[in-house]
Amino acid sequence: MAKNSFFSCSPIIFCFLIFFLYFVITPATCANNGTDGAALLALKAAIDDDPFGALSSWNETMHFCRWQGVTCSHRHRDRVVSINLMSRGLVGSLSPHLGNLSFLRSITLQNNSFRGQIPEEIGRLRRLEYVEFSNNSFGGEIPRNLTQCRNLYYLNLIDNDLTGTIFPELGSLSKLEAVGLSRNRLSGTIPPSIGNLTLLNRLSLGDCGLEGVIPVSIVQLQNLRLLQLAGNRLTGHIPSGLFNISTIFVFTVRSNRLEGTIPADVAFTLPNVRNLDLGENQFTGEIPSSLSNASSLTAINLSSNNLTGPMMSNFERLTNLEYFFLSGNNFWGDFSFISSLKNCTSLKVLAVSHNLLNGSLPDSIANLSSQLTYLSLSSNQIHGSIPFGIEKLLNLTYLDLGHNYLSGPIPSSIGKLFKLQEINLEANRFTNDLPPSLGNLALLNHLYLGYNNISGNLPQSFSHFRNLLTFDLSHNNLNGEIPREILSLSSVSISFSLAYNAFTGPIPQEVGLLRNLADLDLSNNLLSGFIPNSLSTCVSLQRLHLEGNSFDGEIPAGISALSGLQDLDLSRNNLSGPIPSFLADLRLLSLNLSFNRLQGEVPSSGVFKNRSAISVDGNNDICGGIAELKLHSCPSSHPKKRKFPKVLIIIIPTVVAGSLFCILMGFVYVFVYKRITLVKSRASMESLKGQFMRLSYRNLLEATEGFSEANLIGAGRFGSVYKGILDDGETMVAVKVLNLNVKGASKSFMAECNALRGIRHRNLLKILSICSSTDFQGRDFKALVYEFKPNESLEKWLHHNAEEESEQDGNRKNLTMIQRLNIAIDIASALEYLHFGTDTTIIHGDVKPSNILLDDDMTAHVGDFGLAKAISNLSRDFPANGSSSAAIKGTVGYIAPGMLLNFYLFEVS
Ligand SMILES: *[C@@H]1O[C@H](CO)[C@@H](O)[C@H](O)[C@H]1NC(C)=O
Ligand SMILES: *[C@@H]1O[C@H](CO)[C@@H](O)[C@H](O)[C@H]1NC(C)=O
Ligand SMILES: *[C@@H]1O[C@H](CO)[C@@H](O)[C@H](O)[C@H]1NC(C)=O
Ligand SMILES: *[C@@H]1O[C@H](CO)[C@@H](O)[C@H](O)[C@H]1NC(C)=O
Ligand SMILES: *[C@@H]1O[C@H](CO)[C@@H](O)[C@H](O)[C@H]1NC(C)=O
Ligand SMILES: *[C@@H]1O[C@H](CO)[C@@H](O)[C@H](O)[C@H]1NC(C)=O
Ligand SMILES: *[C@@H]1O[C@H](CO)[C@@H](O)[C@H](O)[C@H]1NC(C)=O
Ligand SMILES: *[C@@H]1O[C@H](CO)[C@@H](O)[C@H](O)[C@H]1NC(C)=O
Repeated sequence: MAKNSFFSCSPIIFCFLIFFLYFVITPATCANNGTDGAALLALKAAIDDDPFGALSSWNETMHFCRWQGVTCSHRHRDRVVSINLMSRGLVGSLSPHLGNLSFLRSITLQNNSFRGQIPEEIGRLRRLEYVEFSNNSFGGEIPRNLTQCRNLYYLNLIDNDLTGTIFPELGSLSKLEAVGLSRNRLSGTIPPSIGNLTLLNRLSLGDCGLEGVIPVSIVQLQNLRLLQLAGNRLTGHIPSGLFNISTIFVFTVRSNRLEGTIPADVAFTLPNVRNLDLGENQFTGEIPSSLSNASSLTAINLSSNNLTGPMMSNFERLTNLEYFFLSGNNFWGDFSFISSLKNCTSLKVLAVSHNLLNGSLPDSIANLSSQLTYLSLSSNQIHGSIPFGIEKLLNLTYLDLGHNYLSGPIPSSIGKLFKLQEINLEANRFTNDLPPSLGNLALLNHLYLGYNNISGNLPQSFSHFRNLLTFDLSHNNLNGEIPREILSLSSVSISFSLAYNAFTGPIPQEVGLLRNLADLDLSNNLLSGFIPNSLSTCVSLQRLHLEGNSFDGEIPAGISALSGLQDLDLSRNNLSGPIPSFLADLRLLSLNLSFNRLQGEVPSSGVFKNRSAISVDGNNDICGGIAELKLHSCPSSHPKKRKFPKVLIIIIPTVVAGSLFCILMGFVYVFVYKRITLVKSRASMESLKGQFMRLSYRNLLEATEGFSEANLIGAGRFGSVYKGILDDGETMVAVKVLNLNVKGASKSFMAECNALRGIRHRNLLKILSICSSTDFQGRDFKALVYEFKPNESLEKWLHHNAEEESEQDGNRKNLTMIQRLNIAIDIASALEYLHFGTDTTIIHGDVKPSNILLDDDMTAHVGDFGLAKAISNLSRDFPANGSSSAAIKGTVGYIAPGMLLNFYLFEVS
């Protein structure tokens, strides 16, 4: 009954149930549809990789307000007010559905791998106050719609891949207190409207490609604490009012093209400044006298400007100073300022190199802070000797006193500075014996003592250098035998030079242990005996100079194993016997055998084909060779007596037919080539002679005219490539300067160093030098110096457009079929060599037309090993040795202290 009555009045209840089910149950099961939850799921869906499962809680089993990193409003349940996904390793893009979270006030995605555009829907978040997207890979432009977020007070987009300009409307976001756009790839100028942001206290626009002047309106930012404008192309004067914003804490405009003088009272008008970084500009005038009162300063950088005048010597009050860079100016006077630094008990870096300072080093150098790690006084006019008290500077890792007039013995107390990684005392007037105590410096990477008057023997203790990469004692008066233990320093990989000394006796067999060495120079000594055959295991050698000694016997067969050798000089010895034919098989670029007693036939293939690459003068019993040598021809009876293997019976006719074909093709080729290519006469690359050059930061700075834009020939993710002319005025090089601020640049440098170390092939772009040093500010500077290839990249030839041709004119026509074929063969043989021709199989990983470079005669060279990997270490003829990669790691291992001057982020308290 009840049942019936229930059903009899059921239509109403039934309707109610349906109503209930529809409005209550349905929305409950799809709670996220159209709500903030759905927008969050859409954000999650745009993430491609979530390695730590940071978003695993973002699912339907739990209300979205309890999802990790999500905070909802107290008053409006179900409305998201904050998202924080900092450092979760997320890879992916930021979904435009973000724009639906209309209650969002704060979003933090710092330190992930978000890429793609910042969606313009962000402009719909009218309540947004805080945007922290630094350290991601966002690309595209800064969304203009951000100007609709009128409550924004914090905007940090530092370290992304953003392009485009800073739009002037940014100046209308009047609540902004912090703007960070450093380390992006922006262009254009700083908009004057930025002066409207009067609440701004942090402005970070470093290394983001800006040009033009600093707008005068910037002086309206009277609350500024951090001003970071370093590493742009800003020109003109600093608006003088900027030096009057007394709140400024960090003031850095390093590495721009700013000019004018630095106000003398700068330390009074900026009483709170801690970090004053004006280096690498074109400032003139004197060092601001008020600096002596700037007791709050921790870092001063005035290096690489055109400052002049006497060096100040009253720094007693700078008790907080840690970094002091004054290198590369024209300061004169004596070194009395060193005494005045005694109260700087936290001083870590003192760099005053490349100035006009004169006089001797005061004994008070011993009173410098015991925290000092970096001391560079090179290229001044220091007289006298190194004070013995230098032994007090126990934390020193870098000591550069090169290119001065220092004299007397090298103090043995330097041997107590056991943290030293680099000593440069070259080009001074040091005399006496080498202190054996230097051998205690187990961490030493680079020892430069060349161009002095040091005498005596090489101390046995030098065999304790376990981490040495460069050993240069050339141009001294050292004598005695070369201790065998010293030639066992298998870590030495860049250069080992004892040239221009008076060493006697033979080269010890142990020389074969220098397996990682690129450049061995024992020339111009009094060495004698046989050249040891054990050189065959020095498989990384590129340059071997033994000229100007008294070696006798034959040229050892072991040299045939040095497949990377490019420059061999054995001239002015007493070598006898034949000129071995394997020399023609090596990929030598320069060979000097002159003034020996060699006999017999000069080969005419390989390097011997090139008259200007070889010298065989002063050997009386040689014959044959190419006609230009003008030697008499060899008696023709001997060759007939050689064995005549059967294969040759087949090969010879083939070769004859082949040669005829080749000659024919040759004519066709020459005809085609001559018609199409106007062979430009260019400075010949011969002068390079394949040496592994030693280039300093300064050399490269000069070669590229200060890394000027006119010399810029390309820019990539990890750095820029500049064209340069080296000191000799002839050698054209391409200099790739790594942008160490970019994530992965160091890794790419390492990859390239590792890949190119010890491998040589005519179709691989030759690396002439690796410059891993510090610039005048003491910051890490890494560059790779390659041969310059005048015909640029294959990419340019394949995809050139007509307008670009104007100046190249006839030169830049389409490639001929034969050229294309030759290029293909060149690339193939380079890759074949990388895969099978070396001890380590190298995977280039980035072979593409823009990485194929063409030289004058259109020979192709594979370059850019930034992504290369060495996959296996097949030890063949010689035992594997664990230190091989450690060697290169060491070169870049030295961490310069100057990097600490980079305040991109907002870490000012
Ligand atoms: C919301 O739900 C409706 C009906 O179930 C569906 O058609 C629509 O696609 C959903 N929208 C979203 C954004 O999930
Ligand atoms: C966001 O809002 C738009 C339009 O207002 C809508 O089309 C879209 O489905 C919403 N997205 C989500 C995930 O709710
Ligand atoms: C959903 O979130 C809960 C709570 O964090 C978690 O335990 C569960 O594994 C998640 N489910 C899925 C399918 O990821
Ligand atoms: C950045 O995120 C990674 C995880 O992806 C983390 O290991 C690293 O510590 C984070 N770095 C900083 C400075 O927070
Ligand atoms: C930036 O990202 C890199 C790579 O994920 C990480 O090593 C670094 O610590 C991050 N820095 C900051 C400040 O988050
Ligand atoms: C961005 O802003 C413009 C106007 O300023 C507006 O027309 C456009 O719809 C906005 N885009 C989005 C996705 O909100
Ligand atoms: C913002 O700055 C610009 C240029 O400096 C100026 O013309 C404009 O009137 C300013 N706007 C406001 C609202 O102050
Ligand atoms: C510097 O040190 C000396 C003692 O060596 C001391 O007399 C002087 O007051 C100090 N100067 C400052 C400014 O601290």
